[in-house]
This record gives sequence, C-alpha cells and structure tokens, in this order.
Amino acid sequence: MFFDSHAHYDDKRFDTDREALLESMQQKKVSYILNAASNTDSSLQGINLAKEYDFVYASVGVHPHDAAEITEETMQVLEEYIKQPKVVAVGEIGLDYYYDYSPRDVQQYWFRRQIQLARDVKKPIIIHMRDATQDTMNIVMEEKAFEVGGVFHCYSGSLEIAKQILQMGMYISIAGPITFKNATKAVEVVKAVPMDRLLIETDAPYLTPAPYRGKRNDSSFIHYTAQKVADIKGISIEEVAKQTMQNTFSLFGIKR
Ligand code: NI
Repeated sequence: MFFDSHAHYDDKRFDTDREALLESMQQKKVSYILNAASNTDSSLQGINLAKEYDFVYASVGVHPHDAAEITEETMQVLEEYIKQPKVVAVGEIGLDYYYDYSPRDVQQYWFRRQIQLARDVKKPIIIHMRDATQDTMNIVMEEKAFEVGGVFHCYSGSLEIAKQILQMGMYISIAGPITFKNATKAVEVVKAVPMDRLLIETDAPYLTPAPYRGKRNDSSFIHYTAQKVADIKGISIEEVAKQTMQNTFSLFGIKR
C-alpha cells in the first residue's frame, strides 16, 4: 500500500471522473494521497477533498507560476486555510526559472513569505524547484525552512545538491520521470539517498511514468515509480512502500 505524497486532484483533467477515481484508490493499493495546491482555489478544493475522503490530506499555497497574482489578501486567505483539518503543509511553493511565468524577484519574495507562514504555524513545506537551484537553496537556508522541514518534490537536481538537502534534514521526492530511459542523474540520486529520506509521488495528472508516458497520470500508477526505486536500491517494492509511507507520515506529522 502506497502513500502518493503529491498529486493534484483539483485539476480540471479530473472533472469527469474524480469521485470514481478516488473511490477506486484503496483497491489499487493507494492508501493515502496528499493533494498539493497550486493557488488559493486549488487550496480550497484540496481542503474539501480532505474533508470528503478520509485518506486524502492537503497542502495549501501558491505555486511560483502564479506568484505574480499573490497579494496580502492571498496571504490572509492562506493563513485561514492552513488552520483547516488535515492541512499538513504549505506548498507547493518555490522558484521556476524554466517557464518564468512570474518575474523572478516576485517569485522569490512570495516564496520567502510562504516559508515564513509555514514557520509561523510550524508546518513543513513542499518545494518546487526548476532551473533555479542556487536561489532556491539560498532562500531555504536564509529563511531557515529546515526548522519546519520539507520536501523537494519531483527532485531532478544533482547529487551534490541532494546531499545539501539531506544535510538540512529535508526529504527528496521521486516521481514518474525516474522510470524514463534517460533518467541517469536521478538514478544516481536515488542510489545515494538513504531510504529514510525518500518520498514517492505521482504529481498526477502530470509526469506519467513509463509505460504510460503521455497519458493522464493518477495515483494508481505510483507502483511504477516504487518498483524503479526498489530495483535501484535492490530491495522489494513492499519495503519501498512501507518505508516511504513512514517517511511521509513523519514529515507531515500524520498519525494513523
Ligand atoms: Ni505538483
């Protein structure tokens, strides 16, 4: 049984079959799902999914893509949302210089502010980092995000940066791209990161693993990622499922 530590069931690509899909998850060996927010609307939808489904948890936050739309009012909304039941983290937050949908200085400012919110409520953060390694790492250190902990989601960085993340006591989350043929750097990272610091995720509906690359992703595909991690580590998929579930509980302070 798996914990999908990062998925987006608020996404409109699930509008046609969201309920049926979520209700089928237990049979598909997915015990728990964390719905990761992208903006205030999706934060609220995540809160509502967590209310409706016992096995769903939520994070609240605004993705760097939407940073240009954040105002002080947005922060007040997030301050309310973070207090809701089963909201276990602030995220996903961070920096994305690949798309640059929001100006970089604006992304940085609201990344810092959302880390400060997480610190105020003592909840961990879910970090999105794309083509922005050094600025992300600097902000995480300067804002002392490691004091509340967090995870670098869908980690695609170097082994060297992975080691710095581990030194800060934070987690690394592995998603579908680990199953792609060209995933050599990510394989090296998985090899080196101790099992007690790894999470697994789908990032559904995105990042569908092989052999379904290109199709809509959902949490039932997580076993492809888990199997790949098991192969790299030379352990069973059951061991990967068990250890990553414990890690996810522990990072997000979930008691079951
Ligand atoms: Ni995501």
